[in-house]
Amino acid sequence: MKQLKSAPACAALMAAFCSLPVQGVRADVTANLDIDLRKQGPAIPPTFGGLMTEEINHSYDGGLFAELVQNRTFQDPAPRRPQGSPQDLPVHWSLVGDGKASLDRTDPVNSALPLSLRLDLSGGTAGVANDGYWGIPVRPGTKYTASFYARGGAGFAGPVTASILTDDGNVTVAKAVTKPVSGAWQKYTVTFTTDRKAPTTAKARFVLSATGIGNVSFSLVSLFPPTYQNTPGGLRPDLMKLMADLHPAFIRLPGGNYVEGSTFPTRFNWKQMIGPADQRPGHQGCWGYRSSDGFGMPEYLLWCKQLKAEPVLAVFAGYVLNGNHVDAGSPELAQYTQEALEEIEYVSGPATSEWGKRRAADGFPEPFPLHYVEIGNEDWFDKSGSYEGRYTQIATAIRAKYPKLKIIATAPVKGLQPDLYDDHFYRSARQLMTQARQYDPPTGPAEPLRFAGGAFNGRQPNGIQTFIGEWAAQEGRPTPNLNSALADAAFIMGMEQNADIIPIECYAPLLVNVNPADTAKGYPRAWQWGTNLIGYDALNSFGSASYYAQSMLAKNRGDRALVSTLQAGPSTPEQAPAARGGIGVGTWHTQVEYTDITVTGPDGRSLLTVAPDRDLKSWQATGGRWEATEKAIHPANGDSESWAMTGDPNWTDYTVQLKARKQAGREGFIVLFHSKDGENYRWWNVGGWGNTLARCEAAKNGDRVAYGAGVPFTVETGRWYDLRLEVKGNRVRGYVDGKLVTNTNEEPAAAPVSAIASATYATADHTILVKVVNPGSDALDMAIRLDGVGKVDPKGTAIVLAGDPNAVNTVEQPTNIAPKQETFTNASESFRRTFPPHSFTLLRLTVKPQ
Ligand code: AHR
Repeated sequence: MKQLKSAPACAALMAAFCSLPVQGVRADVTANLDIDLRKQGPAIPPTFGGLMTEEINHSYDGGLFAELVQNRTFQDPAPRRPQGSPQDLPVHWSLVGDGKASLDRTDPVNSALPLSLRLDLSGGTAGVANDGYWGIPVRPGTKYTASFYARGGAGFAGPVTASILTDDGNVTVAKAVTKPVSGAWQKYTVTFTTDRKAPTTAKARFVLSATGIGNVSFSLVSLFPPTYQNTPGGLRPDLMKLMADLHPAFIRLPGGNYVEGSTFPTRFNWKQMIGPADQRPGHQGCWGYRSSDGFGMPEYLLWCKQLKAEPVLAVFAGYVLNGNHVDAGSPELAQYTQEALEEIEYVSGPATSEWGKRRAADGFPEPFPLHYVEIGNEDWFDKSGSYEGRYTQIATAIRAKYPKLKIIATAPVKGLQPDLYDDHFYRSARQLMTQARQYDPPTGPAEPLRFAGGAFNGRQPNGIQTFIGEWAAQEGRPTPNLNSALADAAFIMGMEQNADIIPIECYAPLLVNVNPADTAKGYPRAWQWGTNLIGYDALNSFGSASYYAQSMLAKNRGDRALVSTLQAGPSTPEQAPAARGGIGVGTWHTQVEYTDITVTGPDGRSLLTVAPDRDLKSWQATGGRWEATEKAIHPANGDSESWAMTGDPNWTDYTVQLKARKQAGREGFIVLFHSKDGENYRWWNVGGWGNTLARCEAAKNGDRVAYGAGVPFTVETGRWYDLRLEVKGNRVRGYVDGKLVTNTNEEPAAAPVSAIASATYATADHTILVKVVNPGSDALDMAIRLDGVGKVDPKGTAIVLAGDPNAVNTVEQPTNIAPKQETFTNASESFRRTFPPHSFTLLRLTVKPQ
């Protein structure tokens, strides 16, 4: 694969190609792609593409885990509710009918289920209702299984009715009645099936009710619809089918911040996520909500088994997101090291081993194949330098017991070398596309290897491989738009061509519950991360534009990269957006203060001098309140993602000057410019990306992407810095203490390349797979030549993903951007094809090798 801005022969090529009419489409850009079957690149291992997973965006609870009851053990923290609303019932629960409900801490089922919900009856019928994960999904003719612990008190010994009620008019869609409940905790299970004429709706609640006097208490209340392959307590079928179509070779479990947790007590503690559901206490996840842990280790393994994917295991490595760590040699790290060894045994040990036996008891007698283990996640966030020691201790223990396992490090280490490094890339579509070939073997002297912002900038020396364990173009909310999908396709094509050193890769995040906030009930929106692969609500699911690009590639991977050369004419330059707006300051989980803020026009005239205590009232804040002292302005909550803005939306060029000091927290300073409102602004992020880089970012309707080069920069705590930002048109120069740090010109969103193309080969069925991304707004006329082939079947297949680059798929329009397949009959050793604007195309060509 090659990407070219222009080629020396371009003018001649354009003259030759533009004179030829092609399929009735105006083709403004011409290109020439040569593929030689005799010049084979690296083998693409069957391990190549996988899924990255963690509890984020309600990926498991309210997502893949088919459980429909939210807060089934009543332990979820209460949300901020509208003023005046009752606070006494656990969140997502309400009272139905004539009675009283209250949380009970006395005489629990067991220590993992410390709370119960008590319903006091006063002669009539009363119940407790759960509103599910943004609704309980109802479908006609569908069987549900409800289960719960119950205990009768004060004379109540009647049955309990489990039912689904629609929100409108309280219509009962289906119900079942238990046997009379006893005075001691017991588990009750009932099933019911909705009528064939029942509505399809998520506007429904699940209700447990009883009639009479006395009280009845409930714990671990559960409701399951049909699951994938009808597995009790299993996984959501529509999401599993979407994932199965990606043919994942592995699942990184769990990846991301979730493995670390915000604090030590809330780290990913796998031993609390095995065994029956009533033995799992749950824990506060790091993405703002509690995890029931109903989706735990056995469910990870079920997921792997049902998708025929291998686990890539990430083990907790002694660092948590609040910045704390334990050191090598400490008793705590000895414990975590032991837990990591046991976790490996739980997954891959024989059923006769201590932890293999526990796995067998959880339903999986056969050990799972395991080849990769990752030590931690993004440990470059740990600025203490402790990773070297923590990694070495855990890696040494794993190597001693499991010498065949490949070990993945998440941050640079100097001593004991890993088998792989995990590089992460969350980039703008433009950047990701231009980085697609950064792992190519250097043709000249290699650039020095640099680690910044979560990734190295190229291949490792000494045979160390790379796991690209999180990557994604960041355009489109909450799922990627087509422009991102094109960049994602190009990035995968680049990885395929470097599969000798990138044996495994996975996009992130995988899943997103797309429900918006319910302000009336005080529920936040379901998602936390901006751009995610597969979206869903309680009833429906959809693949994003990027999902379709990835499934096209997954189904047409090939087992061998082919060397190809592309010559392409220049793309039509796009205009950068006009830039104007006010200024501001921000924080990213950091206690910061800003003072002496001034704005000066290009003629030296003062546009603004901020007097914090007087002026702050007129500032507009997003993400949290800002406060002022006499001199400085600071976020009310230093652990927020918030920013405050002022100034004139029509300002264009100016210089912002200010003093800034960090007191604590994860990152550094944020200075806003050309800001219009909380969703549309640009900012200079000094000490962003875990306090590693200074770089600009631009947000459009909340969709924020980085642009320009990131320069390594770390903000020190406790000292004042002088910041100066000169803004002129799209050019930004940022100075720290008088030294130029950032010098950036904002470019348009589309990639500065007119085409990206590559080819792979599927040996068994003699198929050349040609992959072409046309990111530009002109059609691309390409002459394709196949060398080293005996005979080419004239009948080929084209799969095309194309459309508006800003378009996204949604619950309402799930296939707005989806591939279209066609056959064509002009394939030969030398043929032509026009690729539509903003498209990704995959051609399948059957050949006879020479
Ligand atoms: O994928 C979302 C998050 O991005 C992951 O949790 C973390 O590893 C990364 O910072």
